[in-house]
Amino acid sequence: MKIIVGITGGIAAYKAPELVRLLKKAGHEVRCAATEHALQFVTRVTLETVSQHPLYCDLFASGGTEHISLKDWGDLLMVAPATANIIGKVANGIADDALSTLLLAFSHKPVVMAPAMNCEMWTHPAVQRNIETLKSWGIRIVGPAEGELACGVNGMGRMAEPQQIADAICQGERSKMKGERWLVTAGPTYERIDSVRFIGNYSSGKMGFALAQALVDAGAEVELVIGPTALNVSTYQHIHVHRVESAREMYAAATELFPQCNGAILSAAVADYRPAECADHKLKKNNSEGMHLDLVQNPDILATLGGMKTSEQTLVGFALETDNEEANAQRKLEKKNLDYIVLNSLRDKGAGFGVDTNKVTILSRDGHRTESPLLSKREIAQLIIQTTT
Ligand SMILES: Cc1cc2nc3c(=O)[nH]c(=O)nc-3n(C[C@H](O)[C@H](O)[C@H](O)COP(=O)(O)O)c2cc1C
Repeated sequence: MKIIVGITGGIAAYKAPELVRLLKKAGHEVRCAATEHALQFVTRVTLETVSQHPLYCDLFASGGTEHISLKDWGDLLMVAPATANIIGKVANGIADDALSTLLLAFSHKPVVMAPAMNCEMWTHPAVQRNIETLKSWGIRIVGPAEGELACGVNGMGRMAEPQQIADAICQGERSKMKGERWLVTAGPTYERIDSVRFIGNYSSGKMGFALAQALVDAGAEVELVIGPTALNVSTYQHIHVHRVESAREMYAAATELFPQCNGAILSAAVADYRPAECADHKLKKNNSEGMHLDLVQNPDILATLGGMKTSEQTLVGFALETDNEEANAQRKLEKKNLDYIVLNSLRDKGAGFGVDTNKVTILSRDGHRTESPLLSKREIAQLIIQTTT
């Protein structure tokens, strides 16, 4: 999501850079807008460094149209901290500086405010009336909290903690995919050789499970088809777990579930081949030179869903390539009729199988490319959901 963080002149402005950092870490693009008074509490250099974009503060700079271009750019405007002054200005339609003008221009898009002020200011009837006005227009208010205030007294008026504000923004997104059902495949497949042996791979299912959680966070129901893993995935609301073992079982479950889904994200590491025959007993060691396994090809789940896909459905595949990574991934995207492909990196330390972090490049059918830094699999999942849904 593209988020504008507006900062006003309260002492809690010193927490705004931390909020920007958390939002960026969660995969959002962030730009900052501040009032002149905010810059008494936090510097322009800090805000420009954490957001990596110029600060919007002067209404008449850059030809005076920045409030319109920023309004077009942003998906959500978050004011933290929000002073009694900015709350009063918005509630009364006053636009006398860069941020308040942007706020009025932003009236058709989501706005969230995190008030912070002294407790007597907070309980003033004018502030309370203004807050009710903002709520009645659909502006979301996060906090304030009770606790020690900068003026030394205890009371209601502390700004909500940056993590709480960042979480509130993500929860606000829960409505984004309400009513949608998505298919996710995760984990490895096991291809039986005999009654005790199999061909498998190192996939842990963590990336797929993080994707299921991110879809649920965005409001969707998830059909999770998962190969053999040690992950405990059974107890989550809105995640319907279908446990499978082999590629053919995963194929059967995925092709049955896909027609009822709005889209599918196929992150499982599916075996391309299986033993041609599976012995129903443990194969004995013989003393000859060795053993030969005949392998036959498994059905291609991605290509099959690509063929079944309607124009209403979205299909996201994963690719793990070792050379010519992007060119091969792009070819796979086209050949299998995908909308997006997520290229997993094995070159980077901390990315890939088993670990809790990952680094990906997301390629879209229409030529867009999004590259992530090394992030937790949860953050990568959020980025994939934001980019592809
Ligand atoms: C040290 C100091 C701390 C302040 N803290 C707050 C605050 O937490 N909340 C608030 O509403 N106003 C606070 N104010 C008052 C605002 O700075 C003042 O109302 C200002 O006009 C707000 O301007 P702005 O909303 O354009 O940023 C503080 C003022 C000073 C001098």
